[in-house]
Amino acid sequence: MEKRVFGRTKNDENALLFTFENKNGMKLEVSDFGATLVSLCVPDKYGRQQDVVLGYDSLKEYEETNDVYFGATIGRNANRIADARFTLNDEEIHLPANEETNSLHSGPDGYHLRQWKVKMIDEARNAIIFQLASPNGDQGFPGDLFIEAGYELTEDNEVIVTHTGLSTADTVFNPTNHSYFNLNGHNNGTILNHQMQMNAKYFTPVEDHRSIPTGEIKAVDWTPMDFTKGKGIGEEMSSSFMQLLYTRGYDHNFVLDREKSFASLVVGDQSGITMKVSTDLPGVQFYTGNFLKNKSGKEKAIYQQYAGFCLEAQYFPDAVNHDSFDSPIIRKGELAEHTTIYQFQN
Ligand code: GAL
Repeated sequence: MEKRVFGRTKNDENALLFTFENKNGMKLEVSDFGATLVSLCVPDKYGRQQDVVLGYDSLKEYEETNDVYFGATIGRNANRIADARFTLNDEEIHLPANEETNSLHSGPDGYHLRQWKVKMIDEARNAIIFQLASPNGDQGFPGDLFIEAGYELTEDNEVIVTHTGLSTADTVFNPTNHSYFNLNGHNNGTILNHQMQMNAKYFTPVEDHRSIPTGEIKAVDWTPMDFTKGKGIGEEMSSSFMQLLYTRGYDHNFVLDREKSFASLVVGDQSGITMKVSTDLPGVQFYTGNFLKNKSGKEKAIYQQYAGFCLEAQYFPDAVNHDSFDSPIIRKGELAEHTTIYQFQN
């Protein structure tokens, strides 16, 4: 493990960057600023190192320009809450809206902009745990919430991401990791020719461009949302399927078939790098970087639309306002824990 100063935050704290390597040549870099995954190098089929996540070179960019959430830990609530309001234990809760009338990724003061503490480093296991104390009323949510975000790089080429939460009052706990992957390398064009398979026979359609679910659980059959057998990400993306027109590409929650923890398998067409995602969460937001445009990134990259894809394991969007969706509410004093694993191969 190597540790270096990543930069100085606006609050005059030192943000650090931690580098872990496994014996197969994989390298993971994470920062305590935002509990962010900054880079992830994987050897491709030619033995060349490819950094497969989009991001920035400097702390300053993570702090000032990361409105697209590269590599970030999102919390307390990933995704959208319609009209930035919901009811919990008969109490009406109001959150600051930051996307038209929606709360997106917990509003303007997300956990991705916080300086987390390092709770534990286990050098033998290539593991680190960050922690954050989020006070009662933070982002509008009730309860003092203690949250931990862990990263571990195993010798089986897995990146294990864990999130735990414990609160002093009933509250929402729905964090996710918002890494954008490009398995051909972060600066190697679009992800449209990647092949993808998803363990989901259903998805949650959205009402319109505001991306709030209608509440239906719809079959993917005979639609461009069907990745059950595997196909190119871009293969049916420009069809006139209304759901894709609303969001300019894929930006939808897939309902995972929970008999298995397997969520998705993606292959980079040029690199041969494959990524298998497994999770204990009920849904995954598949987002194809539809809103990226001229975004300056690391190593002088300029990221354009579809430069990366996200597979954000989480509860369904706006679940707090849909009784038929699994609830992201944790009860006072009850420890919640979620694990998502990204495993690589070339
Ligand atoms: C995704 C979301 C997209 C977009 C993106 C950040 O999780 O579904 O609509 O907001 O985050 O740019």
